[in-house]
Amino acid sequence: MTKPSILFVCLGNICRSPLAEAALRRRAAAADLVVDADSVGTANYHVGEPPDLRAISEAKRQGIDISDYCGRQLALDDFAKFDHILVMDEDNLADVRALAPADSKAKIGLLLDVVPGSRGRSVADPWHGTEADFTATWKEVDAAAEALIAVLLSERRDQSAKG
Ligand code: 4NP
Repeated sequence: MTKPSILFVCLGNICRSPLAEAALRRRAAAADLVVDADSVGTANYHVGEPPDLRAISEAKRQGIDISDYCGRQLALDDFAKFDHILVMDEDNLADVRALAPADSKAKIGLLLDVVPGSRGRSVADPWHGTEADFTATWKEVDAAAEALIAVLLSERRDQSAKG
């Protein structure tokens, strides 16, 4: 059984996508599901840097330490490495699609598309916002992580049915 691999994408890889990665890691552990999870930015502004201090604080409020996450930019080989590439907003979606090779195996989509009732919505960028905006980001990405676990479990059932 191959383990599902999920890449979260935002612009800077210091606010939204690290929080999405942390939320999925925790939800996957709780569901006893082994996953490969990572996050990247479409831009190179924060390569090699830890997440924004406000994202680190929000994760800490949720009992998760993300201070050792390290900013990385989306690379061509990510399209071969990951089953799912899930982006935060329409700008990310356009940037990811522009880079995607024709033979990309990854399913590319908006993260909130997995949440019932949130199809087509974006995770707003909290970078210019307040602590409360980071808490709102957490709620959105954690709801998406919960819904994503259901999708991944269903894909695993389909995979084992096929043998
Ligand atoms: P993120 O937020 O895409 O959620 O990580 C941002 C972080 C940094 C910048 C923009 C958005 N920036 O322009 O440096």
